[in-house]
Formats: sequence, C-alpha cells, structure tokens
Amino acid sequence: MDIFEAVRTVRAIRHYRPDSVPVDALSRILEAARLTGSSMNAQPWHFIVVEDRATIDQLATVYEYGHYISEAPLVIAVLIERGQRFAVSDASRAIQSMVLTAWSEGIGSNFVGFFGLEAARPMVGAPESHEIFALLPFGYPLHPPSTSRKKRKPLAEIASRERFGEPYS
Ligand SMILES: Cc1cc2nc3c(=O)[nH]c(=O)nc-3n(C[C@H](O)[C@H](O)[C@H](O)COP(=O)(O)O)c2cc1C
Repeated sequence: MDIFEAVRTVRAIRHYRPDSVPVDALSRILEAARLTGSSMNAQPWHFIVVEDRATIDQLATVYEYGHYISEAPLVIAVLIERGQRFAVSDASRAIQSMVLTAWSEGIGSNFVGFFGLEAARPMVGAPESHEIFALLPFGYPLHPPSTSRKKRKPLAEIASRERFGEPYS
C-alpha cells in the first residue's frame, strides 16, 4: 500500500477480531514510532506494549470514549515526558506513523484519549516523569472497513490559494 492510499483509506477502527497481532507486524509498528522525527530530535516518548488480557480489560475502563479497547488483542500506551514543550506534537506524529504502518498491513487502530488517562498509570506502571497521552488499540478489523466517503470538510472550506479566503480552485 503506498502512502497516499494508506492515508486515503485509513479509518478509525473500534471493533477487532481477537487474533493476535503478529510479532513481525508489531515490530514494524514500534519501529515506525521509533523512526518518527520529533522537534529537536528530542524523542520525548515511551511506548508500553500491552498484550496481557487482564491489563487490557482494565485499560478499557479508563476512558469514556475507549471502552471498546477491551476487544483489542494489543494496546500501546503512548507516554510523553513531562515538561517537553513539543511532546504532544511529537507523540501525535509517532501515533500517526504507527496507525498508518498497521493499516498498510490490514491492522486497524484508533487514537483513544488525549490526556485524561491518569487512572491508567498504575495499570502500566507509568513513572511520574511521564504523562499518559494516548492509548492505541490494535487488531484486525472485525468488519470490513467502510469504503464510504469520509465525512470531511470540502477542500474549498479548508484551503486557500496564496491568501486566506482566496479560493483554492
Ligand atoms: C487527538 C485525537 C483523539 C481521539 N480520541 C478518540 C477517542 O477517545 N475515542 C475514539 O473512539 N476515537 C477517538 N479519536 C478518533 C476520531 O474520532 C476519528 O479520527 C474521527 O472520527 C475520524 O474517523 P474516520 O477516519 O473513521 O472517519 C481521536 C482522534 C484524535 C486525532
């Protein structure tokens, strides 16, 4: 799958088959995160790979909009170092790298949370030096991913040519 095709087709996947994510695919997902560029190359992130069923079930209780995490065979908790100004941007890029890498292999994921995950700290042993930024469930989609048009603003609404408000096309 080329890059644009992955971006064009990737969807937020919230239901997963129970099959494990293969070890080599997991390695590529993590490598995609590791290789992501960050501001000043600070790499202010840490990724906790969770496959233990009991822990995943606990993580699923943490966030109001992430209970479906319990369906996933794999969750990656994304932590960011406290006090790093660009950490949110950096970690978001790493998340997108992981999600697209997984998607190119037929594995679905989604971005769960945006902080507000404090209750997950003891579940994954996160140290005080880090905040839990997001939880990423991964798994093969239970249903064929939707091929309907994505609900997105039209380009004319979100792009201009040369100056804000000048029609792009
Ligand atoms: C920063 C961020 C936080 C998100 N948080 C959640 C969340 O907590 N739970 C959830 O189910 N989806 C979450 N999403 C996924 C969005 O709902 C999803 O990307 C959007 O609805 C588009 O979905 P689609 O690509 O399938 O059309 C989040 C996405 C982002 C970028």
